[in-house]
Amino acid sequence: MDLITALEGLAPELEKGLADARSLDALESLRVDFLGRKGRLAHIMSALPQLEPAQRPAVGQKANAVKESLTALLEERRLALEKALEAEALRRFDASLPGRLPWRGSLHPITLVTQEICDVLRGLGFDVASGPEVENDFYNFESLNMPPEHPARDMQDTLYVSDKVVMRTHTSPVQVRTMLARKPPLAVICPGKVYRRDSDLTHTPMFHQIEGLMVGENISMAHLRGILTAFVREIFGSATRVRFRPSFFPFTEPSAEVDISCCMCGGAGHLDGEPCRVCKTTGWVEILGCGMVDPAVFEAVGYAPEVSGFAFGLGVERVAMLKYGIGDLRMFFENDVRFLGQFA
Ligand code: PHE
Repeated sequence: MDLITALEGLAPELEKGLADARSLDALESLRVDFLGRKGRLAHIMSALPQLEPAQRPAVGQKANAVKESLTALLEERRLALEKALEAEALRRFDASLPGRLPWRGSLHPITLVTQEICDVLRGLGFDVASGPEVENDFYNFESLNMPPEHPARDMQDTLYVSDKVVMRTHTSPVQVRTMLARKPPLAVICPGKVYRRDSDLTHTPMFHQIEGLMVGENISMAHLRGILTAFVREIFGSATRVRFRPSFFPFTEPSAEVDISCCMCGGAGHLDGEPCRVCKTTGWVEILGCGMVDPAVFEAVGYAPEVSGFAFGLGVERVAMLKYGIGDLRMFFENDVRFLGQFA
């Protein structure tokens, strides 16, 4: 068979193959079969050197023309196939299916309560201050009337970084830093993380505190009582009753602890005939520590002995547990999104 005839037979054969090609892969195999380096066209043309030189140009031209028409056939089929595949994909696409909703975040309950407490206290005239979590012994203890070897340091279960450096055990050191930087009168609150070597059902080695300090002329226990009562009623509701119990802190004198009527049972001690598990039937829950700033603290920061002031401190986790009725402290640290999502 002469080469021209063989070349002319290629296009009809490819067309037959294309009629059955249902995928882009099948199309590619056809292309390799006809136009590939070892394909049919190449095979026919491998006989070219055996022709008389005079016949070769005509065969060469024919081969080029055939190659072009084969390429055009393949391209035409490829476009048609792509269109069909797209139409099929659209037919299967169900626009009525519900979409995937994006995750919606929420603030952590500790953040929410911190913000709420700070908002209320800002409204009562306090500035917000912050300071380092790794503290010098001086700011955490010594300036607060707890010299080295003072037994009150034991109350704090301190995590020591080195001999003179600690993880702060309360945010009182921020109050000391504020007093060293500013002159009275001042009113400041210090929210932040604090650390104690303590871990059980009701204690975690890290927790959150907010401490407050007000210093000026003739600041008295009456101011302390008035402000803390207003504050507590703002947070827990206006019907909340408040009582002050004598207590001890090295940096305040006199010192007190503040109880509020139990926000679970309303102070009754019982709830639906059952003993209240929050106040253990006493009707009261402890909420903060406070007192009049000890003159030794003013002396440590170089304030005149005539100034007076009060300080208070509370645990944010405790307030959040009481406010939201959360029974297990660990919930705050597990970060289970099912728990956290309830505060959205
Ligand atoms: N610093 C105290 C603590 O961490 C709390 C407190 C602050 C008590 C101010 C009285 C006055 O326990």
